[in-house]
Amino acid sequence: MRYIIFGESHGAGIGVVLEGVPAGLPLDMEFVEQQMRRRAPGRAAFATPRKEADQVTLLSGVWEGKTTGAPLCAVIYNTDTRSKDYSRLKQCPRPSHADFTGNVRYAGYNDYRGGGHFSGRLTAPLVFAGGVAQMLLRQKGIFVGAHIHEIGGVKDDAPLPDQWESALFAPVQEKDFPVFSDLQGEKMQEVILKAKTEQDSVGGVIAAGIFGLPAGYGGPDLRETAEGILARQMFAVPAVKGIEFGAGFGFASLRGSQANDPFYYDEKGNVRTRTNHSGGINGGITNGMPIVFRVAIRPTPSIGKPQETVNFETKTTEMLEIVGRHDPCIVPRAVPVIEAAAALAVCSILEQTQAPVTWEGVEI
Ligand SMILES: Cc1cc2nc3c(=O)[nH]c(=O)nc-3n(C[C@H](O)[C@H](O)[C@H](O)COP(=O)(O)O)c2cc1C
Repeated sequence: MRYIIFGESHGAGIGVVLEGVPAGLPLDMEFVEQQMRRRAPGRAAFATPRKEADQVTLLSGVWEGKTTGAPLCAVIYNTDTRSKDYSRLKQCPRPSHADFTGNVRYAGYNDYRGGGHFSGRLTAPLVFAGGVAQMLLRQKGIFVGAHIHEIGGVKDDAPLPDQWESALFAPVQEKDFPVFSDLQGEKMQEVILKAKTEQDSVGGVIAAGIFGLPAGYGGPDLRETAEGILARQMFAVPAVKGIEFGAGFGFASLRGSQANDPFYYDEKGNVRTRTNHSGGINGGITNGMPIVFRVAIRPTPSIGKPQETVNFETKTTEMLEIVGRHDPCIVPRAVPVIEAAAALAVCSILEQTQAPVTWEGVEI
């Protein structure tokens, strides 16, 4: 499956064209719309008050509820734009948003309103595309789940990744604030609201698991490892600034005897590992354990606090106070986005592995 996401935050609309979706897939729109609601703005004090219904219009590729195999095009019209909030940003780029780099890359022709094509809003069609990918993966018994691991230094009280299984994530996915511990979730929300009151923002970490992907997928091209494909897809999500698999950066302070995942046969005769420090991948190839990874999300670049920036017209340095509607923390809304991106990456990993994987003569 390939996809292209189009549109701008303050243009007529945004959307996605998906190519290569198999014909005959029943499109569970209720599931997709539920995923999109989890991401949609305007639902909580810790999200931007911009109100967008994120209603999907299907232009092509679906007939009588099933995919046709032709390109699948989904459009979401923008309904709550307020472009005047952004007029100053044409000359004065927001520090650490894509206003400056977009201007340089597209010679000043970029639509800078609300971040244009670089807006977090473009993750709505990504969630649609990921929803279709999740439907395909469900047929193969593969599931994706994520939770808020940390916000502004407050950590969720989650089961150890070694004990993760897909069923653990179902109740978390139902929540407006997707954490295992609601108590820790409340503390995180306090941190977000404090930052908001101080015209500031906070970042955090999302942890995710991919369940049911058998051993043997990924590569053989070393540029197309399972980790590489997942990382590339994660960096398609704006504000993602880091990724680690399994013990990740924690490996640096472990010994081999602590870091290695010992093998054993389970009761069905499958090769498993006692621990999952490797995050389900060895040598860029899945080992049959859940894939476990974490992504770091930066604090929202747009903040009300005065910051230094340049003025392209006057060629001077000046102070900028950003007005407009912004998320004081991107993390809660990004959880379904990370799940969607992971599902799309798994489709690529399956596609990339050239032949059905067999082991000891059995297709797995
Ligand atoms: C769901 C979501 C919502 C976002 N909301 C905002 C926002 O309200 N204000 C903002 O400045 N950035 C927001 N961003 C982040 C910017 O789009 C992003 O930081 C910017 O494009 C620069 O890209 P980079 O951080 O990956 O370098 C959001 C990102 C996501 C995923």
